[in-house]
Amino acid sequence: MSEQEEILVVEDDPSIRKLIEACLTREGHQLDFAQDGLDADQKLTERSYRAVIADIQLPGMTGLRLLSRHGGAGKFVRFLMVSGTSTIGDAVQAMKLGAYDFLPKPFAPEDLVNRVESALSSARVEPQSGGTVLVGDSPAFRHVVEQLELVANVPTTVLLTGETGTGKELAARYLHEQSPRATGPMVSLHCGAVPDNLLEDELFGHVRGAFTGADASRQGVFEMADKGTLLLDEIGTMSLSLQAKFLRVLQELRFRRLGDSRERSVDVRLVAATNADLEDKVKRGEFRADLYYRLSVFPVRLPPLSARGRDAVLLARHFCRSLSRRLGVSLKTLSTDAEERLTRYSWPGNVRHLENTLERAVIVSRDRRVIELGDLGMDLIDPSAERASVTIPDDGIHFDTVVSQLERDLILKSLEISGGNKKQAADLLGLKRTTLIEKLRRLGDVSRAS
Ligand SMILES: Nc1ncnc2c1ncn2[C@@H]1O[C@H](COP(=O)(O)OP(=O)(O)OP(=O)(O)O)[C@@H](O)[C@H]1O
Ligand SMILES: [Mg+2]
Repeated sequence: MSEQEEILVVEDDPSIRKLIEACLTREGHQLDFAQDGLDADQKLTERSYRAVIADIQLPGMTGLRLLSRHGGAGKFVRFLMVSGTSTIGDAVQAMKLGAYDFLPKPFAPEDLVNRVESALSSARVEPQSGGTVLVGDSPAFRHVVEQLELVANVPTTVLLTGETGTGKELAARYLHEQSPRATGPMVSLHCGAVPDNLLEDELFGHVRGAFTGADASRQGVFEMADKGTLLLDEIGTMSLSLQAKFLRVLQELRFRRLGDSRERSVDVRLVAATNADLEDKVKRGEFRADLYYRLSVFPVRLPPLSARGRDAVLLARHFCRSLSRRLGVSLKTLSTDAEERLTRYSWPGNVRHLENTLERAVIVSRDRRVIELGDLGMDLIDPSAERASVTIPDDGIHFDTVVSQLERDLILKSLEISGGNKKQAADLLGLKRTTLIEKLRRLGDVSRAS
């Protein structure tokens, strides 16, 4: 664990370096140091750290340049930027480049420790945006927004359900922003992405020495989300034994860090999200009924996109605007034919599927201003292609070859819909993520061999 948790400190001011060293080693964190940007660049190229604390003004290479080379979205290592002469512009740029957090100097030691502990967690603290827009005007979607606005002002637990890609995470963010907690943190933890034995630690944190390898104390998401909103995504994947503990915490609103005798209480609004049918899981004995009732005080179901009528067109126009901006191309519009087809398609991957389809369409339409039906991709042009057609020629087929071809096509299609996200692709196929990965590996072996 310590091998992974090492933190690289890049700071040229010796007094600040000493201060950081004193507060973090006291908590048991293992630190490595770089004197300047170039030294840090080399260290980050050679080995992996869990977190980097970097000053923005550094000799050699600036902290922001380091961040853009080694940090940001999709990277394992999290950057905590510190700055003495910081301007709002620096902070905004650091966050845009994907910094995990920004800390102006001078800082209080506990503040540094707390932020580092949160950076070492698998959870995500959402950058404060405030600008979440929910696009949609269909009665089914308007009902969702009304319910979110209704419950925003009270701290009641909300259970968001709906198929993959229907906007559960976005709805949770909207709820947070509309609530009096908007100035507090929004923390989200993907329960399915954390192995079960570590989930308890992620939820409640631990104190130093709680278990072998617990060299440093660490906050859990409940503490990180104090005075804010905690989104527990894919709650249906939690094991039965952890469900029991979790229920107790929800009832008493108090918990202990692992290995700690002290009880803590926090003020958190819990939002749980799932694309699994929890009621069905309860029936099958995979989810505790009492926890289900506790979570579903205020359930909000995100309807599938195919049940939202012309919302697909409103969303497509919205994505045209945002994608054109993001991809740096001039604003595109959709032809009437294309819009017509969008409302009739079944959208198995829902809004995310639509967003990915539009991104590809914006690219393949090249410098044309109008996105035509033909730019939307094969299965959208030809409605019959949605259903797999089964034909057996007179001279028969080779069963295994046809089945493995179909398996391959389904896997590739699901990855296309999910934009390469294996967890979502597996969900679309009703497979476990590990099963999908195993199948992908075999596909790779087959294509290399052939
Ligand atoms: N009503 C909406 N307006 C604008 N964008 C939306 C809307 N609903 C979803 N999106 C966008 O669609 C994508 C998928 O949404 P989100 O991640 O919230 O879905 P989800 O239900 O959490 O999916 P999953 O179950 O796979 O985790 C995101 O990029 C989100 O911003
Ligand atoms: Mg989600």
